[in-house]
Amino acid sequence: MSFKNIDIQDLHLNPIEMIGEEWWLVTAGNKINGYNTMTASWGHIGAIWGRLDEKAHNLPTAIVYVRPHRYTKEFMDREEVFTLSVFDKAYKKALTYLGTHSGRDEDKVTNAGITPVFDDGTSYFAEAKMVFICRKLYHAPLLEQGFVDKSLVENNYPQKDFHEMYIGEIVKILSK
Ligand SMILES: Cc1cc2nc3c(=O)[nH]c(=O)nc-3n(C[C@H](O)[C@H](O)[C@H](O)COP(=O)(O)O)c2cc1C
Repeated sequence: MSFKNIDIQDLHLNPIEMIGEEWWLVTAGNKINGYNTMTASWGHIGAIWGRLDEKAHNLPTAIVYVRPHRYTKEFMDREEVFTLSVFDKAYKKALTYLGTHSGRDEDKVTNAGITPVFDDGTSYFAEAKMVFICRKLYHAPLLEQGFVDKSLVENNYPQKDFHEMYIGEIVKILSK
């Protein structure tokens, strides 16, 4: 089945359920310079910021959180665009594999049995049911001093390897 572009107005989903329970693949890179992907179950979809030259004062945006040692981070840092691929439950095994193996060590996409699509100068997956193509707007690490609830630091960052946040403008949504 092929992808169709959909408008933000036609997007009806529960982001907490989608990201937290179904997960998504965070992917950056392209066929020429290489790409990598990883599973993420943390993230946000929402609206922030505007541009002087446009009426829009609430850009559709997605946020992902990537720990410093992920191989995918190298591609997130290098590329202007990243993608977020959402899958049916049938692909949970593949997403678990991609979230427990590193692209540094193997061709994990082939080993997980999914198919990369190289388009729009970026990469995503043929088996996805929905893909968000995002243009990077903001990238910064989470700071320890920013945590109001300090127990979150103990629980999530015993190694102090704070996630880095990437806020991307959703420039295209593909759906089947
Ligand atoms: C269900 C699940 C959710 C995950 N969520 C995140 C996340 O939000 N951020 C993150 O940095 N890593 C997350 N990970 C871990 C990465 O997917 C994992 O370390 C992966 O092997 C990194 O691959 P890479 O080294 O090829 O980039 C998650 C893993 C799983 C299984």
